[in-house]
Amino acid sequence: MIYLVGAGPGDPDLLTVKALRVLEKADVVLCDRLISAEVMACINPRATLIDVGKEEGQQCEKQRQIIPLLLYYGARHETVVRLKSGDPMVFARGGEELADLLDAGCEVEVVPGISSALAAPELAGIPLTYREVARSFAIVTGHGRDGLLQDWTAYARIDTLIILMGVKHRAEIAARLIAAGRNAGQPIAFIERASTPNERRVYATLGQVAEGMVEAEAPAVWIAGEVVGLSLGLSMTKPPSGAQRI
Ligand SMILES: C[S@@+](CC[C@H](N)C(=O)[O-])C[C@H]1O[C@@H](n2cnc3c(N)ncnc32)[C@H](O)[C@@H]1O
Repeated sequence: MIYLVGAGPGDPDLLTVKALRVLEKADVVLCDRLISAEVMACINPRATLIDVGKEEGQQCEKQRQIIPLLLYYGARHETVVRLKSGDPMVFARGGEELADLLDAGCEVEVVPGISSALAAPELAGIPLTYREVARSFAIVTGHGRDGLLQDWTAYARIDTLIILMGVKHRAEIAARLIAAGRNAGQPIAFIERASTPNERRVYATLGQVAEGMVEAEAPAVWIAGEVVGLSLGLSMTKPPSGAQRI
């Protein structure tokens, strides 16, 4: 059996029970770059670990190796795991890998994980929907295979916008969202390395991001919407670590 497993955002307590069970009995694990050391420590110590994490510029080459490796180990072992950060089907090529494995006649099971897109705002006390404030949310990539998305018109109208991989092009994305009609005064947050000991939260407005005034570091989830302004996270018992307001 080949399992496509979501590792969650980093904190091992945010693994699903099923993900933990599969990791504990794994024979071989192929893992991505953003898997935390604490989650890696949950893997069967006798398992063979293969790092297929992709640095910038080597994505295509590494991706080409993954299916042959899964087929090779899948034919020889009982429990082979393809471990991805967050959820395996959210900007993680899980769908493409599932299709290839099914085409090759493999038995595959998907174990969903908690996506950073949901975990990062929620851990900071930012709800994605809130009565009379936000009725819709969307998760979008700030940097796809084809580069920066050019037309942000559709996303300008979504109440809560969650942007993954958006740090590098943040000023340009913010400017495009404002040009498409999103309010420049809208509160935003960048949550870096959510759920890890190095988590940092940066609060500002969309206009400040467009003006290049906001420093943020990848990996981060960027949330734009009135829900950020509810500031529930600031009143939570555990104060946000490293929270910084511009
Ligand atoms: C290739 S995508 C993978 C997304 C993943 N499948 C998920 O569901 O979270 C990588 C992006 O996810 C976000 N990300 C993943 N883990 C994160 C974390 N712990 N804190 C903040 N952002 C994270 C960042 O935007 C990062 O650039």
